[in-house]
Amino acid sequence: MEAKRAAVSETGEKTLSMEGPGVVLETRRDGLAFLIFDKPHDKVNLLTAPVVAVLEILIDQASHDKNVRGLVVMSAKPASFIAGADVNEIRALRSIQDAEHASRKGQRLFDAVERLPFPVVAAINGTCLGGGTELVLSCHFRIVADDPRVEIGLPEVRLGIMPGWGGTQRLPRLVGLAPGLDMILTGRSANARRAVSIGLADEIVPSELLLEAAEKLVMDAAEGRRRPRRRLPDSTLARLNPLHLARLALASQFARRGLRKRVAEVHYPAPYRALEAVLHGLRHGMAEGLLREAELLGPLAASRTSKNLVSIFLMQRAARRDPGVDDPAVRPKDVRAAAVIGAGVMGGGIAQALARSGVGVRLKDIDPQALSRGIRHAHDLYQEEVRKGRLSRRERDQKAALIQPTLEYTGLRRSDVVIEAVVESLAVKHKVLREVEAVVPEGFIFATNTSSLPIEAIGKEARRPEDVVGLHFFNPVHKMPLVEVIKGPRTSQEAVATAVALAKRIGKTPIVVGDAPGFLVNRILMTYLGESLVMIEEGGRIDEIDRVMLDFGMPMGPLALLDQIGIDVANHVAGVLSEAFRDRAPRSTALQILKDKGWLGRKTGRGFYIHPDGPDDGGADDGGGGPGGGRPAVRRRTSRSEGPPRDVNEAVYALISARPREHVDAGPTETRLVLPMINEAARCLEAGLVGTPAQVDLAMVLGTGFPPFRGGLLRHADSLGLAAVVQGLEALAAAHGGRFVATHLLLEMASGGRRFHES
Ligand code: NAI
Repeated sequence: MEAKRAAVSETGEKTLSMEGPGVVLETRRDGLAFLIFDKPHDKVNLLTAPVVAVLEILIDQASHDKNVRGLVVMSAKPASFIAGADVNEIRALRSIQDAEHASRKGQRLFDAVERLPFPVVAAINGTCLGGGTELVLSCHFRIVADDPRVEIGLPEVRLGIMPGWGGTQRLPRLVGLAPGLDMILTGRSANARRAVSIGLADEIVPSELLLEAAEKLVMDAAEGRRRPRRRLPDSTLARLNPLHLARLALASQFARRGLRKRVAEVHYPAPYRALEAVLHGLRHGMAEGLLREAELLGPLAASRTSKNLVSIFLMQRAARRDPGVDDPAVRPKDVRAAAVIGAGVMGGGIAQALARSGVGVRLKDIDPQALSRGIRHAHDLYQEEVRKGRLSRRERDQKAALIQPTLEYTGLRRSDVVIEAVVESLAVKHKVLREVEAVVPEGFIFATNTSSLPIEAIGKEARRPEDVVGLHFFNPVHKMPLVEVIKGPRTSQEAVATAVALAKRIGKTPIVVGDAPGFLVNRILMTYLGESLVMIEEGGRIDEIDRVMLDFGMPMGPLALLDQIGIDVANHVAGVLSEAFRDRAPRSTALQILKDKGWLGRKTGRGFYIHPDGPDDGGADDGGGGPGGGRPAVRRRTSRSEGPPRDVNEAVYALISARPREHVDAGPTETRLVLPMINEAARCLEAGLVGTPAQVDLAMVLGTGFPPFRGGLLRHADSLGLAAVVQGLEALAAAHGGRFVATHLLLEMASGGRRFHES
């Protein structure tokens, strides 16, 4: 802040300064004005209602000031421009009219910026999102700093709304339809280089020259040497051009098709409405487009979907700020070097994630091939980032060099954290622990990625059990945002705080949970997966059960998910849980039978489905087909989830001696699969395994893809009404047995008319 302010005032020519809560206008004697955003006591600038109110006054004032020849819009925060509107204000919008009104107000403000009678240049030095992007779109030029922290985007659809301050109109006009729609409909942002390549920014300059370059550009424009550029003209003549109209029709079709593949309109209407606003404006002109934008935003902003998505956003932000321990005196250990033992599916991914965020890692395995696979996997992930323009080749090489493979315990001495990701065997994990203790001096944290072994049991053999903590990543590590940090009964606060801080540092969202079978996410998820197996055994159809849950909003049906996890892995976790909770987690025979048959799901090309991209594409019968022994009959499955369409492996029914009925009833299927998850989550809260309902919700959304538009599992329970949940469980218990009996906490909350989330 001080440096930049000095750059403005150093000349001693400042003539006018008007301050507001987070934004100030300074005008120099030479006619150059600076609109400087700087929210007091905060790391980021937001366009809150008070800031917008002051902005209106400042823009009006500048527009009447005859001395002003040009304006630079800038931020005084390091590497942060404007992070958007205040999410709490978005959440507070209750009525359609209020939302529409707020949209029109912002539109008028940015219209006024665009109409300023002198050139306006935005100098973008870092994060620029939502309303911040809409502001820079209304400027006549944009310069970006050559800094990896620069991101420019319109992430509104991720909150169930759409840009409402002119973004749907100005962005496509500036950058063209395809890149504009890509950003608006997905919420994806552009880094500095991409911004220049699509025409969103006019220039990219080294950070330290940003202000100087902005001043030069504004002066060049004031003297007529530079003119603003736009990819799509907005004259009536251009709009009526048949070629333009044909292009719009084609783009609309293409965008709709892409959207339908990604999200269902009934669950996520926002991108569909945003598309409508974009096309309306390009057909009928800017003024009409802005009106439509506000009209379409109103119902979205007032919807439950948006409130739910905003609450997930807020929970995620809270999780990122949560140190994971109550005592503020406890500090996480400073992690300068780490080691990962086991370079398999998980270890390779964990090492890559650590190196990605600049932590040097020793990656140790006993198998040279596993080690080279792990390194190759990391390299492939970096290469993909280079391809997407997120990393330069130099950065790729630097990051790749941070992972040092080893077959011996060499180079581990200075490790502050050792993450163990060897095979799931207590004996092997103990052996590794002893070996590590022999080479690394006392004082390191031993984090285990176990998916089912108690942290207490692993820590029992440790010299210092208090230094042993669970750090449970999800597969695939580079995609899954959640990490469960598991606190064993003897785990120290420092170990928890260190694991939490490390997870955050590598861009994950940590949730601290207690040391109990299945921890939190797998325990809740297995009730759902287990029940889907019982339903198959009773004659439910694989694809129909999956279809019901896809329609509910899960990214994948339960049986497709079992194939994805691996039947052997799922069978192991199911075994651990049924051992622990005999009363309500009966062991499914289906998993064991499929496992014995070698139908392990995607990795073997066959499980509940036949996977054309797996090693066994079902082309040849392996002797396990239908009763006739020929090639198994297949049924086509349609799904919104990733990957090519798969066929149901019909032979499963004969193998597990189930006679499939032709139809399953959607309503009861959904109830039967979702209510046990709610019940189990309530048990976890009751047992103190997790701190708050919000943590359960966030963990389920990030760890299992539970539909974000429903706000999480327990918010969904609230929207059903806890009395209805209990009633549903009672009916299920009467029909299918005691495993559905509602837990005490649920009964108590339902009878007291309470909710998991108060607001
Ligand atoms: P994996 O079988 O792919 O890899 C295990 C690696 O450990 C192998 O490369 C093996 O050579 C190595 N290894 C075995 N003994 C070793 C020793 N004494 N020293 C060094 N390396 C040794 O297994 P995966 O799937 O990566 O699982 C590892 C751990 O992560 C397990 O505890 C598992 O339960 C857990 N986990 C697995 C998930 C998954 O989806 N695969 C998800 C979350 C946790």
